[in-house]
Amino acid sequence: MRLEKDFTYKSGRIIGSMCNDPNPFARKVLARFLEKNLGDSGLFSATAELEKETIQMIGSLLSNEKASGHIITGGTEANILALWAAKKSAKKEKCEVIVPASAHCSFDKAGELLDIKIVRARLDSKFQVNTEALAKAITPNTIAVVGVAGTTGLGVVDPIAALSEIALDAGLYLHVDAAFGGFVLPFLRELEHDVPIFDFEAPGVCSITVDPHKMGLAPIPAGGILFRDERVKEFISWNVSYLAGGEAKHATIVGTRSGASVIAVWSLLRHLGREGYKQMIRRCMRLTWKLADEIPKIEGLEIMTKPTMNVIGLPSHTLSVKQIAHELRLKGWAVALFPRHIRIVAMPHIQRKHVDEFLEDLKTVAHNLRG
Ligand SMILES: Cc1ncc(COP(=O)(O)O)c(C=O)c1O
Repeated sequence: MRLEKDFTYKSGRIIGSMCNDPNPFARKVLARFLEKNLGDSGLFSATAELEKETIQMIGSLLSNEKASGHIITGGTEANILALWAAKKSAKKEKCEVIVPASAHCSFDKAGELLDIKIVRARLDSKFQVNTEALAKAITPNTIAVVGVAGTTGLGVVDPIAALSEIALDAGLYLHVDAAFGGFVLPFLRELEHDVPIFDFEAPGVCSITVDPHKMGLAPIPAGGILFRDERVKEFISWNVSYLAGGEAKHATIVGTRSGASVIAVWSLLRHLGREGYKQMIRRCMRLTWKLADEIPKIEGLEIMTKPTMNVIGLPSHTLSVKQIAHELRLKGWAVALFPRHIRIVAMPHIQRKHVDEFLEDLKTVAHNLRG
């Protein structure tokens, strides 16, 4: 079969991705409603209502039931939309946005598309954005600042409350990229982990990226953009007059878009409920602690920082991480490779037996590379 050489989530061998093995119930829902097109919400008004309810449900996880937004193609589209809204609301000729050095590359794409200069602020010793450096980088052209709640490389949460104060003082738009952490932190909070303010509870936060197709267990494509209220979303709303269902407004990059994805997310949120997600996160965190305990016991390997969520950074002072990733790949494991570390993500499809097998292979790889 042509597709046999693809990796599968079920094998547990995808141990470095932030995507998931979609929930079986959500898969069925998606397959059933493939004809729904939210680009023409006049034809699919009931689906459009479900999208509003979906955004409300996700908004309530992020301390704001009044949030307004869309289920879209992914975190990249969400980050582009946020910077677009920031630019439209600022009405400036020259625009700069300050993002943490750890911010996802989608901000660079957004910068190029929207003609915004992306300024990267350095991180502190805990891999969070250095708020002093960020504040110093503000110029008269700055229109927005960005914080990340669950960085791509390490799952670190930036000090969003401090960024909120900086943004409010300087009259700037604040966007939080919680593409990954948005479906982790609310449940860690309920599990009584020490979770700092990261969402709309911080008064300066204008929008949040939160992706159901990562830790939300929804099938691809299901990204999410939430604006604090309808007013912020209006900055990027376009009237489209010709549609068969009557005039509609689009506040997305694409026109035609999947209503089935929205119905799948709506159904999944109700099907799993907060309790279902909480249990899932609890399981992921147990495996994360197991990995974080065992990896430093292997000679030559360390962990970058204590994990905040189910993401672990694996650096080495003595071995090449590129070589480790390569050798693991030869043993059938797909990890993510960053300049100075390997990323492991204990997603819900990873089971205890996968972690044990992975640790055994990692030991062998490190041993062989030590020579
Ligand atoms: C923090 C963060 N933001 C944005 C994205 C981009 O998301 P997508 O690949 O769904 O466009 C990612 C991807 O992993 C991410 O980790």
